[in-house]
Amino acid sequence: MAAVARTPRPAQAADRYDHRIAAAPWWANLRGAPGPATAVWAYDGRVPGPVLRVRQGTPVRIAVENRLDQDTTVHWHGIRLPFAMDGVPGLTQPPIKPGGRFVYEFTPPDAGTFWYHPHANSLQQIGRGLAGALIVDEAEPVDVDRDVLWMLADWRLTKEGQVAPGFGNAMEAAMSGRVGNTVTINGATPADQPVRAGERIRLRLVNAALARIMALRFEGHRPVVVAVDGQPCQPFQPEEHLLLLGPAMRLDVMLDMQGEPGRRYPVIDDFYDGLAYPLTHLAYLRQEPLRRSGSGGVSTLPPNPLPIPDLDAAERHELVLQGGMMGGDALANAGKMQGSGIWAINGVSMHGDGHAGMTPSLVLPRGTSHILALRNETAWWHPMHLHGHSFLLLSRNGSNVPHQQWGDTVLLAPWERVEIAFVADNPGDWMLHCHVTDHQVTGMMTILRVD
Ligand code: C2O
Ligand code: CU
Repeated sequence: MAAVARTPRPAQAADRYDHRIAAAPWWANLRGAPGPATAVWAYDGRVPGPVLRVRQGTPVRIAVENRLDQDTTVHWHGIRLPFAMDGVPGLTQPPIKPGGRFVYEFTPPDAGTFWYHPHANSLQQIGRGLAGALIVDEAEPVDVDRDVLWMLADWRLTKEGQVAPGFGNAMEAAMSGRVGNTVTINGATPADQPVRAGERIRLRLVNAALARIMALRFEGHRPVVVAVDGQPCQPFQPEEHLLLLGPAMRLDVMLDMQGEPGRRYPVIDDFYDGLAYPLTHLAYLRQEPLRRSGSGGVSTLPPNPLPIPDLDAAERHELVLQGGMMGGDALANAGKMQGSGIWAINGVSMHGDGHAGMTPSLVLPRGTSHILALRNETAWWHPMHLHGHSFLLLSRNGSNVPHQQWGDTVLLAPWERVEIAFVADNPGDWMLHCHVTDHQVTGMMTILRVD
């Protein structure tokens, strides 16, 4: 009898995907060969993980495989997607077990610069290298000479070049969080960045650090911000030409290369008092300028289909950020807070990376507009991130924020009060937390329910 041809099994939905990334232990040459390789955790053996490029308005399926020895998930930071795809363990999905796999499926509504990272054991998983850029391309290409990505990460390395232990130190958590000692661009301590006179670069900056805040100054250049957290704004030059990036924040800038061929210009990170350091250098090739006349003014990126909050009808809420070390008085507020948190929001500390049964602090009827005041009553900086939505930045300490800046993460200075507005149009229990991971996991987190 002839062999019976095997009927091919109809493809399971879960077998189809556009991208596949696997999280696994790996090695990385952060300091560049021939230095010692650092043991890391990586997506697809790369630090940062592969750049995922997807198209605005086109459905995408991304399979995530877990080859770590612990649970993981992936959060698509800044993408306005369905709740079940948000990657918070226990809250939006069961965690991906070791050896397991989960297929994320969503249609990115907004073009821009986003990123992905685990939302499980985040201190270690992000701190050991799990993070990558997710770029949603505009329907029509934006007119620039080059599109360049800098994924900025911050590592705490030992003398031997290995990731230092001591994640989750309580004293550190009560202060600035785990700030490292080695900043990398796209996974390597930066060498010079070759550029050509006359060219216009769209530079996508992503701060993927656990805790380090950056304030970048491009000596001799005038970067123009065209998008904040992926969302287009009215183009503007930042105050003092400093590009301020808290953890998880992104800036897209247009950079006209107006320097002289053959010269090098430092890019300085000048955030922490007295600790400025040159992050890298723009190194001009000895080449004719690409063009003589300059590229002309910078135009606005095409708008994303964001729901515009109705500020007159908006309901107002206030969330107060509390806790941390105050002027040497350790955990000053700890006694007033529920739970044993170092940090709290409105007196409540929620811990970890997410779990089932988190009680929302606000319930927002679907489709309604809200103005949320975030009041920082602590002596520390906090980049506050809201899942599932982008919000309009209204004011800082009572002054209007110009240039129509939207975001998913807003950086609050000590004692600062900011107001943001958004339409609660995406049903789910959405996290709002500090993206200094130490702060998040020790209490600076809450849930906003949209229903
Ligand atoms: Cu990028 Cu809940 O985080
Ligand atoms: Cu914080």
